Amino acid sequence: MSKFNTHHLIEKNVGVLVVLTLLVVSIGGLVEIVPLFFQKSTTQPVDGLKPYTALQVAGRDIYVREGCYTCHSQMVRPFRAETERYGHYSVAGEFVYDHPFQWGSKRTGPDLHRVGGKYSDDWHRVHLRQPRDLVPESNMPAFPWLQYRNVDSAALPAHMRALRAVGVPYSDAEIGDAVKDTAGKTEEDALIAYLQVLGTALKSGR
Ligand code: HEC
Repeated sequence: MSKFNTHHLIEKNVGVLVVLTLLVVSIGGLVEIVPLFFQKSTTQPVDGLKPYTALQVAGRDIYVREGCYTCHSQMVRPFRAETERYGHYSVAGEFVYDHPFQWGSKRTGPDLHRVGGKYSDDWHRVHLRQPRDLVPESNMPAFPWLQYRNVDSAALPAHMRALRAVGVPYSDAEIGDAVKDTAGKTEEDALIAYLQVLGTALKSGR
């Protein structure tokens, strides 16, 4: 082995080692991540996936505002224990209209990705106002104020235009009707409309 082989140079020189390590890690990262931007299964909506309606967009914002994601994930993992409890595991194509997605990483409560259609609207109303009326051992907080507050309809057209700018296919008519479609609706109505559509595309589309 030669005294001046390159390995020797790298091992003795921390600066060069750091730079070359970063280079190798970046190439590795790019090779893993970049193809995902072009892969159909991660960029194409699953059959049956519809953009959220104006009311559901409002409900989704309330979900984020109230911090529901701090206790609930929205990603059913492909394990038997999960699919038997929640239903079909989540696939990337179900989230293409979610900006940002609500996968979450904390499960104080159950995963909510397949909760759409599981309960009636009335069940959700009672549960949101006082979870312990339905599930005595629940430690979920009550959200009683949602029934008294109206949706901020006026903010929705701009919000939907922003979503369109990042790829959600809203028509001008849908955006134009957003105020009318949500007039007089409460925040509770909106949140329930959002919960009821979660994870339903896969059920209807396949
Ligand atoms: C402090 C943690 C916590 C927060 C915050 C929280 N939840 Fe929960 N949630 C729970 C727990 C625990 C359960 C299970 C017991 C029950 O059903 O009440 C639950 C259950 C649920 C269920 C029933 C799920 C099922 O499959 O039975 C829904 C729907 C739900 N939560 C929606 C929400 C929404 C919407 C918000 C935000 C407005 C929210 N939760 C905020 C802890 C939380």
